[in-house]
Amino acid sequence: MCGIIGYTGSQNAVPVIIEGLKKLEYRGYDSAGIAYYDGNGINVLKRKGRIAELEQYISETIHNCQSSVNCQLSTINCSLGHTRWATHGEPSDINSHPHVGNKRNIAVVHNGIIENYKQLKEYLQNKGVGFASETDSEVIAQLAEYYYNGDILETVIKVSNRLEGSYALGIMFCDKPDLLVAVKKDNPLIIGVSKHGNFIASDIPAVLKHTNKVFYLEDKEIVILYKERVEFYGIDGEPITKTSEIISWSVDDAEKGGEPHFMLKEIKEQPKTLRDTINSLIKDGENKKVLDNFNIIRYNKIVITACGSAYNAGFAAKYVFERLCRFPSVEVELASEFRYKDAVIDDKTLVILISQSGETADTIAAMREARAKNAETLAIVNVVGSTIAKEADYCIYTAAGPEIAVATTKAFSAQLITLYILAVKFALQLNKISPELGNSLMEEIVSVPEKTALILEQVDEIQKHSSACVVYKSIFFIGRNIDYAIALEGSLKLKEISYIHSEAYAGGELKHGTISLIEDGTLVVAIANCKNLHSKIMSNVEQVASRGAKVIIVGNSPESDIVLPDCNELFSPSLSVIVLQLFGYYVAANKGLDIDKPRNLAKSVTVE
Ligand code: G6P
Repeated sequence: MCGIIGYTGSQNAVPVIIEGLKKLEYRGYDSAGIAYYDGNGINVLKRKGRIAELEQYISETIHNCQSSVNCQLSTINCSLGHTRWATHGEPSDINSHPHVGNKRNIAVVHNGIIENYKQLKEYLQNKGVGFASETDSEVIAQLAEYYYNGDILETVIKVSNRLEGSYALGIMFCDKPDLLVAVKKDNPLIIGVSKHGNFIASDIPAVLKHTNKVFYLEDKEIVILYKERVEFYGIDGEPITKTSEIISWSVDDAEKGGEPHFMLKEIKEQPKTLRDTINSLIKDGENKKVLDNFNIIRYNKIVITACGSAYNAGFAAKYVFERLCRFPSVEVELASEFRYKDAVIDDKTLVILISQSGETADTIAAMREARAKNAETLAIVNVVGSTIAKEADYCIYTAAGPEIAVATTKAFSAQLITLYILAVKFALQLNKISPELGNSLMEEIVSVPEKTALILEQVDEIQKHSSACVVYKSIFFIGRNIDYAIALEGSLKLKEISYIHSEAYAGGELKHGTISLIEDGTLVVAIANCKNLHSKIMSNVEQVASRGAKVIIVGNSPESDIVLPDCNELFSPSLSVIVLQLFGYYVAANKGLDIDKPRNLAKSVTVE
């Protein structure tokens, strides 16, 4: 996964591209680069590391130039940019994008994986083409240059037809230095149209400062960007007409809003996210329509599949579906496992896919596997127009807006609340709960946003507890039933951003092995919201405390260290998770880590 951006217009392209790349850095930050036409050929400036390092490199290049072509950088009006998450070839200057053909006639930025790159490389090598990098992406630039005969459309079609795998491509031609071409398959690409010029980008925040008018490129559609217009073509070379959409996000939505990190900003946005998501499902609009027309009666099995935190949301929801719907079979599967297990599913199975980005490769593959086996798919997705949103039979959008921090918070909460509402709706359809109980459960759900706001008022208290925990080398999260489900998310949040080893355990399972790890100086966070299991989890607390563990209790009873508002236990994960997110955040903040971009991770994992 990577981020790509291109601009052609009347403004100085380099700062426009750099600014756009910063908004895409969540997609990968191993290296970054730009390409532009320098009067002789295509020039590329690229660097291993973050965008800030590229920026520094560019300003040094401009500063050091006397009469070199790079002096023209301030007069460039057309450029391509890329931020990389390495897949083929280590993060290095040479493996960074953009890649150019040997004659510097063509430059390419690529997001995706070319599965047949070895064959293509061999094919070109046999024709005498030499390669500079270890990447799959360079093959595209070399292939395009090999085919190029002055007809850009024909070249892009030929290249596209030879590529297997996934790609969103931005291409620049040396003899047409004012225009850019783009094509995509299985990876996202939007076209932004502004008064001063036109953009291609992997995601909307990259262009939002300049325009809110965008086109979503579909698979195998080609766009040619001129300074003043854009043209769309099918893969057969025939012109096509597309309709633009207006994005309602403001630039502020995509900025930090005064907080030190996007993650904290996004944690604090959760009452609004939850309210917006609930309203979209119960008041009016597309989500409500989908929900109103959906009938669970014709299915005999539900499989929930997703990755990372989205999986944890599904895991928590399983308890709610089982408790309320008494459905015979509710399974939760990691998408990366589900896709290869030859699942026993058929047209009576509902497969629920959960994904913030709607672009996670494993979840897309799980969806396609489910559809190939005639199961029906219902997606819960945050990014409008994403692959999963488009391909699933039914799609419900979470109203979290852009989520920038790699560690998800508000999108997770929006997934969870959507799943609760689905569970109540299904339970009513299945006649497993009375309309009166249905109404009171919905009232409980509607009250969740306010309760999360109350927890956010305790932020100083939670920060105090968290700050004292930086010293621990290993932290365990325990809970029972649905508290165990949310313990998984607490543990994931902590380890992904603080790099402290952490595990989540079902309280009753401790005695089967984990308790041997508990000793003086271990920290255990116990989640205790399940009323009928309170004495059980408190016994587990005793067991670990007597072996030297320091325990922090998060729950609704007065003896808890962090006391949560009273809530139906089925919906309590929405409250516990706010504390757990803040806990992870402040532990990482105390260690001075790069919270929004944790090492080795990326927000949108579009490769397997
Ligand atoms: C990555 C992110 C996680 C996310 C997971 C699934 O690993 O770092 O935060 O939960 O992908 O992403 P999705 O976009 O499908 O929800």
